[in-house]
Amino acid sequence: MNLKDYITDVKDFPEEGIIFRDISPLMQDGEAYKYAINQIVEFAKDLGVDKVVGPEARGFMVGCPVSVGLTCGFAMARKKGKLPRETVEVDYGLEYGKATLQLHADAVLPGEKVLVCDDLLATGGTTLATVELIEKLGGEVVGLAFLIELLDLKGRDKIKGYNIKTLMEY
Ligand code: PRP
Ligand code: ADE
Repeated sequence: MNLKDYITDVKDFPEEGIIFRDISPLMQDGEAYKYAINQIVEFAKDLGVDKVVGPEARGFMVGCPVSVGLTCGFAMARKKGKLPRETVEVDYGLEYGKATLQLHADAVLPGEKVLVCDDLLATGGTTLATVELIEKLGGEVVGLAFLIELLDLKGRDKIKGYNIKTLMEY
């Protein structure tokens, strides 16, 4: 299956100069969505994953089904102000803007092996912030998985040394 057939390019969204890679068509097709998730589950199945963490919002769409496929828990990394209990937090920059990401303080236990899932790796800011949150809590990041990698933005340079899987490159 060619997953790129299910990605729609939208010029100048959300700002002029950005080509937005819209994953909605992929998710709206049951076979394509299942195929993509299964590829990530295959990548992760021998990594000993205890927990999947996905950053809001599109990271949930990838991370939740992957965690079910691996039969492990899922924890939400959310933008500031959304989580109701004690949190840890990190400020970060992305392709279009800045934000603060939080994890519940008990979302990852010390020593847990964690897989980070998101739809897209652009500058790597979101991923790096997610990794920092997990490591603050004593978790060990054993893999990072994405549907899409935007090569020009060199996100990989920010997350050197980690085990990375991407399904589509632009
Ligand atoms: C998007 C995307 C990734 C991130 C990638 O999320 O889903 O999480 O940007 O960019 P980066 O590598 O430059 O950090 P966004 O913050 O737009 O939020 P959303 O998922 O709620 O749309
Ligand atoms: N998140 C960051 N950059 C993006 C892009 N170009 N398309 C879709 N999501 C993104």
